[in-house]
Amino acid sequence: MTAHAPKLLKEIELFSELNDQDIKEVAGLAQIKKIETDTTIFHEGDDADAVFVVVEGRVKLVTTSTDGKEFILSVLGAGQVFGEMGLLETAPRSASVVTITEVELLVIKRSDFDHLLTSSPGISRKLMAILSRRLRRANSKMESLAYMDVAGRLARYLLDMALDHGNRLGNGWVVVRRPTHSDIAHSIGTSRETVSRLINEFEEGFGLVNKGKFTYIRENLLE
Ligand code: CMP
Repeated sequence: MTAHAPKLLKEIELFSELNDQDIKEVAGLAQIKKIETDTTIFHEGDDADAVFVVVEGRVKLVTTSTDGKEFILSVLGAGQVFGEMGLLETAPRSASVVTITEVELLVIKRSDFDHLLTSSPGISRKLMAILSRRLRRANSKMESLAYMDVAGRLARYLLDMALDHGNRLGNGWVVVRRPTHSDIAHSIGTSRETVSRLINEFEEGFGLVNKGKFTYIRENLLE
């Protein structure tokens, strides 16, 4: 990694509790990798040999049902970790990971990650907090799939997207790069046409404005 690596690593939640010595060790083990848009980093079912942290850009986590239908579990952005489940459980990858923008990643090999987990308790603690938050989010998604209609699911999806990936502009609005309508449809279990229709309807009554690839949402809706 480069000379500014320690600063960059400190800003990543997984490494935020580490002392300078441990950060140096992580910097020595992690490789930086740049990947183009629309590239599969690994496939569901592959053997797991590394863990990844997104430094810049966004990826989607996709599972495919036996009849070929795609479901997007989540979209991850800067600072978020993926690929840890395959290492912690010694199991095949539970989902495919595909870039939706150009992406810069930190890659840590399985044996190095195992070593860090035992030598730096701060990493294990943070990882448990991250997994716990992810379970909370998955529970909430399960609840919305079970009980909400499509409009409710879409509203919750857009608000979560703004909370997780949005930039607060300081003028009462949050801006977020909107996934394609097809990706949104695959995240909330509906069709692309329904997403397009509802997003237009929301624009009229929900405090939401679409401009090109970006959606602006009123900040007070996130509270
Ligand atoms: P792994 O199973 O190695 O490969 C796919 C990765 O997707 C998995 O590790 C997790 O890092 C990530 N992942 C799986 N399910 C979810 C989820 N519901 N929310 C966020 N990330 C997930």
